Amino acid sequence: MDIALAVIGGTGIYDLALEQAETRQIDTPYGTPSGALRIGLLNGNRVAFLARHGEMHSLPPHKINYRANLAALKQIGASRILALNTVGGITEHFAPRTLACPDQLIDYTWGRTSTFSEEPGTEVLHVDFSHPYSPLLRHKVLAAARVVGADVVDGGCYGATQGPRLETIAEIRRMHRDGCDLVGMTGMPEAGLARELKLDYACLAIIANWAAGCGDAQEITLNEVLDNVAAASAGLPELIGELARS
Ligand code: HPA
Repeated sequence: MDIALAVIGGTGIYDLALEQAETRQIDTPYGTPSGALRIGLLNGNRVAFLARHGEMHSLPPHKINYRANLAALKQIGASRILALNTVGGITEHFAPRTLACPDQLIDYTWGRTSTFSEEPGTEVLHVDFSHPYSPLLRHKVLAAARVVGADVVDGGCYGATQGPRLETIAEIRRMHRDGCDLVGMTGMPEAGLARELKLDYACLAIIANWAAGCGDAQEITLNEVLDNVAAASAGLPELIGELARS
């Protein structure tokens, strides 16, 4: 059975309740992925899962081998990727515990290997990235959310920062002026690499906290982040199960 969907889990999401799951350790020409892939059934459809930061959250955002992660998913035959990204909310519709399916992004990361055409002799790629997320997969995410009765904000601009520290209030103010609604550390280069591999890729952002200086933000703690991710993710298996079917 083909892989109907691959899911990359972010902070606070380290597995999916897959049935008859097997563990696959995959090697790629770009190195090893963040961890083993889990492949199993969700709603009777074959779904693959990879924890972006490793199973024990051992990899900081700038150390993740994004190329190996995507190449591994492509190698097992996945063509649709749902990226779960834990983020901070900047603008009013993106409060903690909200889910959002952004349609734009701005890349503030630096020093990460951000293309598959890095090696000498490989063809230089200038992929179109006007719409960084697959419009078709976004449409299906939003449709699946409607079917299962989950609230997902349609659209928004994801700002990808370098981390691993959180941002200053002035940095978030600048991102707000730039048009960002959400801030996270792992959205890039993942989305760009997925485009280079011609994968259908969309982001489902899980808003864990108000970004620095926004809403009623005080000090941002890991406990707050994990509690809000757990609360916002309660309906995710159902949504992802529906997406895998569609
Ligand atoms: N900033 C960047 N990344 C994040 C945040 C944030 O406030 N919350 C969760 N991931």
